[in-house]
Amino acid sequence: MPPAPWEGRAMPQFGDRSPEDCDARSACVEGEIDRARIARDVSWLAGRRSVAVKRLGAPGPNSGELEIILRAALAAPDHGALRPWRVVRCSQASRARLADLFVTGKRERHPDSTEVQLEREREKAMRPPVLLALIASPKRGHDKVPVEEQLATAGAAIQSMLIAAHGQGYGAIILSGSRCSDPGVCAALEVGTEETLLGFLSIGSIVEEPKLAPRPKLQDVAFDFDGDRIVPMTEAGG
Ligand SMILES: Cc1cc2nc3c(=O)[nH]c(=O)nc-3n(C[C@H](O)[C@H](O)[C@H](O)COP(=O)(O)O)c2cc1C
Repeated sequence: MPPAPWEGRAMPQFGDRSPEDCDARSACVEGEIDRARIARDVSWLAGRRSVAVKRLGAPGPNSGELEIILRAALAAPDHGALRPWRVVRCSQASRARLADLFVTGKRERHPDSTEVQLEREREKAMRPPVLLALIASPKRGHDKVPVEEQLATAGAAIQSMLIAAHGQGYGAIILSGSRCSDPGVCAALEVGTEETLLGFLSIGSIVEEPKLAPRPKLQDVAFDFDGDRIVPMTEAGG
């Protein structure tokens, strides 16, 4: 098991209780929880970052750890409980076939691809210890829940899985690319014509320090509406 990102600091805990004890309902009961302590505990969430496939290696999450990751996705907000997404785990036995599909598709789309580029494509299928295909399956024409909302649900499921992987000390990244619209790849993964292959989520141990993508300033994405106009948020207090 790789070192957890919070190594040396307190493990995330829900107050003095285990996460199992602290279900969503009890956490909502005013006065039952120590909010200041929980606030400290969740600060590690903001440290989530993607880890490139080339920086991932064995071991990946075991079946119990993977179940935690998948169950986190089930907690994604889902208007109408439409479950507009699913995950397909690409087993080790599938990887050679998947790699061939990736490489064949790349060659067809870009006949001038170099051997290095094709090898990188193969690596995307072969290297990750755990590889999950994320399929958005929005229910079109729903009377209350537009497709956009359903895609937001799929995105929330993705983020929950990334966070659950990060929280267990693993590195993860989701990548799409033109392979996601490749007919051969989509057929093999049984992606329907009304569905979208959103990307491949790779999860493994971090074997090389990840490069950090720049984060936007809070003021660039968070605003206050003062009843008259929108202004950049200068402090987040309610
Ligand atoms: C559905 C989805 C597909 C993505 N596909 C790609 C991709 O093909 N190539 C890429 O460089 N980043 C892709 N990204 C972004 C990366 O996963 C990652 O978020 C980005 O490298 C920034 O790193 P960060 O997560 O640490 O901010 C995708 C993100 C999402 C949500």
